[in-house]
Amino acid sequence: MAEYNYDVLVIGAGPGGYVAAIRAAQLGMKVACAEGRATLGGTCLNVGCIPSKALLHGSELFEEAKHGTLAKFGVKTGPVELDLDVLQGEKASAVKELTGGIEYLFKKNKVDWKKGYAKFKDAHTVEVAGETVTAKHIVIATGSSVTPLPTVPVDNDAGIVIDSTGALALNRVPEHLVVIGGGVIGLEMGSVWGRLGAKVTVVEFLDQLLPGMDGEVRKEAAKIFKKQGFELKLSTKVTGATVEGKTVKLSVEPAAGGETQIIEASHVLVAIGRRPNVDGLGLENIGLSPNARGQIETDHDFRTAVDGVWAIGDVIPGPMLAHKAEDEGIAVAENIAGLTGIVNHDIIPGVVYTTPEFAGVGLTEEAAKERGPIKVGKFPMLANSRAKTNREPDGFVKIIADAETDRVLGVWAIATVAGTMIAQAAQAMEFGAKSEDIAYTCHAHPTHSEAIKEAAMAVRGKAIHI
Ligand code: FAD
Ligand code: NAI
Repeated sequence: MAEYNYDVLVIGAGPGGYVAAIRAAQLGMKVACAEGRATLGGTCLNVGCIPSKALLHGSELFEEAKHGTLAKFGVKTGPVELDLDVLQGEKASAVKELTGGIEYLFKKNKVDWKKGYAKFKDAHTVEVAGETVTAKHIVIATGSSVTPLPTVPVDNDAGIVIDSTGALALNRVPEHLVVIGGGVIGLEMGSVWGRLGAKVTVVEFLDQLLPGMDGEVRKEAAKIFKKQGFELKLSTKVTGATVEGKTVKLSVEPAAGGETQIIEASHVLVAIGRRPNVDGLGLENIGLSPNARGQIETDHDFRTAVDGVWAIGDVIPGPMLAHKAEDEGIAVAENIAGLTGIVNHDIIPGVVYTTPEFAGVGLTEEAAKERGPIKVGKFPMLANSRAKTNREPDGFVKIIADAETDRVLGVWAIATVAGTMIAQAAQAMEFGAKSEDIAYTCHAHPTHSEAIKEAAMAVRGKAIHI
């Protein structure tokens, strides 16, 4: 009889865990994956990337029809109305299809789904829904949950003070949505409900939106969202909230201290970040302690401090992004199989899927300057023929290169399709490109991506169309 039930047990079936499980099975290992949620796919497929993009897409179509973008191009419509139930139904279908797709892939690859929340008994044994399961290798891929703000308790069932999960499920358009946190969720969900008719106010503790992004991109983001009608309260902290009937009274004051102001809202979205899921895992039973930020530390190969226990995705340090988790899922399975699984954490693109999109990969200009002398090339979308023709003037591409070697250190883009454009930048950087390599690569015309080529030309002072 085999020593263990499985070669690999993965805890959590989000983008990190389900990918690790499938890759491990593809590599010939006997695999199980424990997941307590009713459907596979984790945060991303159930209450994250996928449903938010469905609502972003639907709300964008609504806005195009309602506010004249279609009419501008000669597409006449009758009175435009929103059927929120249909939009929510379309979102639910996408989630169902995608989560069902993972279930199909599990069956196809013979990954056993252990339905329940797993708890460690020892480093090779967990208990899931009363069943004891043993494995030679256990991968922790338990993801993350919303960080609570103690002064503003969330109640998604009541649907007034909500988190991202509540914001994806609203059955009426808020009159006034106040978003606490000017990060990715705040701006994406603010855009959804703003396009559908809500007044949106963003309360952000820091002096700019989108922490972690390039400084110039952050400044431009503030300008763009203000132009779109968002009210921005930067350098502002929330001190409390009281719900009175269908109204929330939010008290805010300057981050540095000062006079309290009351903002009245129909809905408040708390979006101040996410924290790793480690509670209830029984880490104490295997002698593993999370770090001060609640994350599980690993080495470069995703090994934890405990032999046979590995960790990936949102539960470990690094950006909390689905593609980062997926790549780590592949790498950890390959490392367990004795191959060489690597993730280059210096080149993880990040995208905010608003209109326009904000995307970046590599170093910000500020971080690059600290590293040494740099050259910067910028090209405005206003001068890009496709963006101009489509009447999408906002944004720019910026390329940061090492002044001496010309190697590309960072690329930032604000453009309607910046999320798609950034892939070529990531690939170029992965291949160690110089800005000259990008400048001399033939780009199809007319495409938004030509702005990347022109920004690369601008690094050497040679853009054509500006
Ligand atoms: P998760 O997806 O969180 O999955 C972990 C799973 O583990 C969960 O299903 C959980 O139920 C399960 N679990 C936890 N504990 C246990 C246990 N003890 N036993 C069994 N199962 C357990 N990222 C992007 O890259 N692009 C986006 O557009 C994007 N949009 C987002 C929008 C929103 C609203 C949110 C909230 C997040 C978004 N993200 C996006 C982030 C993305 O969802 C996460 O980075 C990603 O899901 C992390 O994957 P993961 O596998 O590490 O964890
Ligand atoms: P975030 O970290 O992006 O933004 C949180 C914001 O809240 C920050 O700007 C922070 O300064 C601010 N903040 C913190 N405490 C505050 C307070 N008390 N008052 C006011 N502001 C405060 O976190 P967010 O938006 O909650 O998203 C969580 C994670 O989910 C992100 O890390 C992101 O990686 C992931 N995500 C990714 C998406 C994408 O890739 N498109 C979409 C949505 C989420």
